Amino acid sequence: MPTTLPRGVGGRQPVASTARDDGAVEPTQQRAAVRAHYDARATTYDESAMHRDLVAAVASLVRSRRPEPRPGRVVLDVATGTGLALRALQAPGASADDRLVGVDLSPAMLAVARAHLPTAGLLRGDASWLPVADGVVDVLTCVTALHLLPEPDTAVRQWRRVLRPDGLVVTATFADAVDGPRPTPRRDPALPQGFARRHEPFSTPPRVADLLAPHGLRLREHRRLVLGRDALLLCAAEVAAQ
Ligand SMILES: C[S@@+](CC[C@H](N)C(=O)[O-])C[C@H]1O[C@@H](n2cnc3c(N)ncnc32)[C@H](O)[C@@H]1O
Repeated sequence: MPTTLPRGVGGRQPVASTARDDGAVEPTQQRAAVRAHYDARATTYDESAMHRDLVAAVASLVRSRRPEPRPGRVVLDVATGTGLALRALQAPGASADDRLVGVDLSPAMLAVARAHLPTAGLLRGDASWLPVADGVVDVLTCVTALHLLPEPDTAVRQWRRVLRPDGLVVTATFADAVDGPRPTPRRDPALPQGFARRHEPFSTPPRVADLLAPHGLRLREHRRLVLGRDALLLCAAEVAAQ
C-alpha cells in the first residue's frame, strides 16, 4: 500500500537553524556529524538488544496511558531512526488504524524504517522544525535522541505545537546509574563521531519535568529500567490544564 500521510503531515523543510542554545554545540555541525554517524550505523542499528527492549517498554507505557486509543490517531516518533518505536507500537494488540509518522535526520536510518513500515509516513527532517501541522498528534515519542539534539528546548516547543490538547508525550533518555553517573560507553572506532552527547539534562525525572514544563507539558509518570550496562528513564507527559 502506498504511503499516505495523515492530514497536516509533511511540508517543505525550512533552512536549518543556525541558532545556538547554551553555546555547547554548534547546531549545523552537530546535525551533520550526527547524520554521518547514523547513516554509517543504519544497517547494524537494529542489532542492539538494548534499543529493541527499550522500545517495547516505551510501547508498554504508551498503552498503559492510552488503553483505548482514539480511532485513526496520529503517532509521531521524533528522531525515529530505523522506526523501532513505531514498529513496537504497531505490534499485535495495537490499534490497527494508527497513522504512524516518523521524522529523522538520517536518510539511511529512514531507509531501514521504510523497509519495515511501508505504510508509515517517514520523513527526513529536523526535530527543531517538525513537518507537521499544529494540534494533530495524539501520541509523540522521542527515544534516546534528546541527548543528540542541539536545540532540545526548540524541539519540545515543537512537540507542544503539534500535539492535540489530549496528547501524550513519552520520552526515553539515559539515566544516571544507581551508583553514580552513567559510565562512558565504548565507541565504535569504525563509525564517524565528532558530535556532542549531552545526557545530564535529561537524566532524572525532575530534569525532564523542567524541560517540559515551560512548554505546557506536565510529567505524569516515570519508569526506570536497566538494560545491560544502560540505566534508562521513561517519562510520560501530557498537556497541562490551562
Ligand atoms: C540513538 S538513535 C535512536 C533512534 C530511535 N529513536 C530508536 O529508539 O531506535 C538517534 C536518532 O536520532 C536522530 N537524530 C539526531 N539528531 C536529530 C535531529 N536534530 N533531528 C532529527 N533526528 C535526529 C539520528 O539520526 C538517529 O536516528
